Amino acid sequence: MDKVPARQSKRWSVANIIGSVSTSHVPAIGGAIFRHLQQDAYWKPFFDGYPPVQQWLAREQPDVVVVVYNDHGLNFFLDKMPTFAIGAAPSYTSADEGWGIPTIQPVAGDQDLSWTIIDHVIPAGFDFTTCQEMLIDHAVTIPLQLLWPDRVAPVKIVPISINTVQYPLPSAQRCLALGRAIGQAIKEYPSDQKVLVLSTGGLSHQLDGERAGFINPEFDRLCLDSIVNNVETLTCYSSSELVELSGTQGVEILNWIVGRGILGGQAHETHRNYYIPISNTASALQVLEPLT
Ligand code: DHB
Ligand code: FE
Repeated sequence: MDKVPARQSKRWSVANIIGSVSTSHVPAIGGAIFRHLQQDAYWKPFFDGYPPVQQWLAREQPDVVVVVYNDHGLNFFLDKMPTFAIGAAPSYTSADEGWGIPTIQPVAGDQDLSWTIIDHVIPAGFDFTTCQEMLIDHAVTIPLQLLWPDRVAPVKIVPISINTVQYPLPSAQRCLALGRAIGQAIKEYPSDQKVLVLSTGGLSHQLDGERAGFINPEFDRLCLDSIVNNVETLTCYSSSELVELSGTQGVEILNWIVGRGILGGQAHETHRNYYIPISNTASALQVLEPLT
C-alpha cells in the first residue's frame, strides 16, 4: 500500500536547543534554600556555582525545559519501574517525599513537545512509558529552584525519567542512543521555542550498604571531561561497572548521558563547578552550549 504523505507543517522554524545544564539534585539543597543557608560556610562553595548559570538563563530565556532525571519512589516504586518514562501532562505536582523539604507550586507541562518526542522516539524503537499524570520529586524540583532561585521557574517542562534505581538498569550506550533520538525529535519540532536540556543527579555517591559514603573524584573528573565531547568513553562501561565506579546512586550519571545525547553534536563547556561533599554526594554542575 502506498503511504499517504505526512501533512507538511507551514512553519519554517524548528525548535532551538540552547544548551544543557547538568546538576546534582541532593534533597538537603532544598532544606538549605528553605533556611536561606546559601552563604553558610558549608553551602557557599556549592551555591556559588549557580549565579553564572542563572545569568545565562536570564539572557537566553528558554521557553521549555526537557528534564532528564530519575524518580526516587514518589511516582514509581520498586514494584513497577519503567526503564524510560515520559510525562505528557498539562502540569506536574510535587509531593512530600519524607525528606522534610518544602514542595513547590505545580509546574506547567509542554504537552505538544511531549507528544512530538513520544511520536518520534517510540517508532524509533525506544518504548517509553507515557504518563498523562506524573508526580515530580526532588530530582526535578531542586534543579528548577537552583536555576530560578527568586521565582517560580518561567518555563514549561517535559519530564523524562530514567531507571537508575532498580536492577536491571539501562546501559549507558542505550541511554546515549535514547538521548540522540529525543534530540532529533526536538530538532525537527516545528516551533520557535527555545529548549533547555536539564539533566540531574550524580556525581559519585552511595547512600547505603557497605560502601555508604563512597565518593570517587577521579572517576567524576573523567565523567565531567568525557561528557563534553567524548561521551563514548562512558558508554564503554556497563551499568554495573558504572555502579562500581560511581556508587549505587552515582549511576545517576546515566541521566547526564541521556542529556548529552539530546544536545548532540559538538559542544563547548561554558561552566563547571565541582564540590565535595554535599550531604553524601560529590556535587557537580556543568553547562554545555552547542558549537555551531
Ligand atoms: C542524596 C543524593 C541523592 O541523589 C538523592 O536522590 C538523595 C539523597 C544525598 O546525598 O543525601
Ligand atoms: Fe538522587
